[in-house]
Amino acid sequence: MDEVPQIETLRKPASDGDANADILRLRHCLADAQRLVAALDQRLSIAATDARGAVSLDEIWSSRSYLHEPQNTKNIALCLQPTSFSEFGKHREFAEVSALFKQGDEFRGLDFVRIWSMILNIKHALAKCPGAVAELGVYRGQSSALLSYYAQAFMRKMYLADTFSGFAEEQFEEDMGPGKQAAFKDITVENAQRIVGNYEGNRWIVGMFPASVTEEMRADTYAFVSIDCDIYEPIIRGLEFFWPRMNPGGIILVHDYGSGHWPGATRAVDEFCAEKKVSGCLMADFAGSFVLAR
Ligand SMILES: C[S@@+](CC[C@H](N)C(=O)[O-])C[C@H]1O[C@@H](n2cnc3c(N)ncnc32)[C@H](O)[C@@H]1O
Repeated sequence: MDEVPQIETLRKPASDGDANADILRLRHCLADAQRLVAALDQRLSIAATDARGAVSLDEIWSSRSYLHEPQNTKNIALCLQPTSFSEFGKHREFAEVSALFKQGDEFRGLDFVRIWSMILNIKHALAKCPGAVAELGVYRGQSSALLSYYAQAFMRKMYLADTFSGFAEEQFEEDMGPGKQAAFKDITVENAQRIVGNYEGNRWIVGMFPASVTEEMRADTYAFVSIDCDIYEPIIRGLEFFWPRMNPGGIILVHDYGSGHWPGATRAVDEFCAEKKVSGCLMADFAGSFVLAR
């Protein structure tokens, strides 16, 4: 594509010849813009009509019912599907997996970036790296259900660690109001097990982490770990526990790092990274997850 003229090159021309040159450049720009729009149109229509025999987004869309559907959700949904999926037919399990992730709460389905980041990263890690999968912070079990799906597909163990009774009083942080203190108590292990499913590789680690860690979990190595505990103490203990047990190529996803809603999560990751001299990437999901790769 030709270079786009800068503002200063478009000021009043010194001569007729300069004016003609500017008009020519503008015509080129317009033609480029038209080509760009045509290419985008074509891409959307390929996605929508399934012209290459890949996944039809319209089909997937019509099977979804978002409870909190803003006006433009459909357009946003189309834009947020990775090309690998919409045009090249990869990740054909997406509908099944996102249904696991949304169980009982359709609103979670709007966090496309989180769903896709989990899917792409766990598949990437498990394809390249040996070791188990774990989630610290299971709550109702929807994200664990997604992870357990892939643990089963790649024949790995899946550790699911939670108090299953929310935060304990000794964990409360200064800035936690009554709402946060009372969060996540409306669950039982049995309900979470129903949501996650009964893959025989699942290992339920019930109680306060890290005291809850079993010998099997301590002796294992890991390929993919999700840490989603919201507050400082379990997150930093989780990083300290899992990081040395990650196989090269393994990935740790820490939820809530960048949301601002849970400052303890940000502090735990920053302290850990500074101490171990490691770094990671930020994701643009609702809660600003942080990705550490071993
Ligand atoms: C935000 S929820 C997890 C949500 C879940 N990952 C999802 O996306 O569906 C946070 C969970 O962390 C758990 N948790 C917090 N501190 C913990 C600790 N020290 N040991 C075990 N679980 C803990 C809470 O009980 C709560 O269920």
